[in-house]
Amino acid sequence: MSQPTDLATALTAEHHEIDAAIERFTRTPPAQSLGEWARPLVDGLHALRRHIYLEEDLVFPPLKQGALRMPIMVMENEHGQMWRRLDALEALLEHDDVDTEPKRTAAIQACNELLELLSAHNSKEEPVIYPHVDPELSDAAKAQLGEFLVTGRTPAGWTPARAEG
Ligand SMILES: [Fe+2]
Ligand SMILES: [Fe+2]
Repeated sequence: MSQPTDLATALTAEHHEIDAAIERFTRTPPAQSLGEWARPLVDGLHALRRHIYLEEDLVFPPLKQGALRMPIMVMENEHGQMWRRLDALEALLEHDDVDTEPKRTAAIQACNELLELLSAHNSKEEPVIYPHVDPELSDAAKAQLGEFLVTGRTPAGWTPARAEG
């Protein structure tokens, strides 16, 4: 490892932060309104969307010409599945005036299903894709990704390559 904070490490750290935000929600007793209870979760869901965006826009394109073409296609399919679940979960949380027990139960169940998808996804992405990032991206691409990790935002209206799949 040439740098103390290489990009693969930073991307893996994002996985852990996103997982933790979703897990925390499933363990937090809903003492407040649904909106207040879910606020940290909503931040985590936005972080997941941004993570998917930065992978598809900055990480995958320089890697997908060679042997990683198929594994990246699998990653994109799974991003598409996650994106649709994010849409459904955010829609569920949106109307916080309708704060019912079944709604809370549905939100927790949706989070647990999302965590399962993330676990299956990250356990492939971390060993198969991320080891290529630091050695194979150009210096310019690495600088752009490093900068995005600090300050970047998902462009409004962006959707993943396989969101409809
Ligand atoms: Fe991913
Ligand atoms: Fe990832």
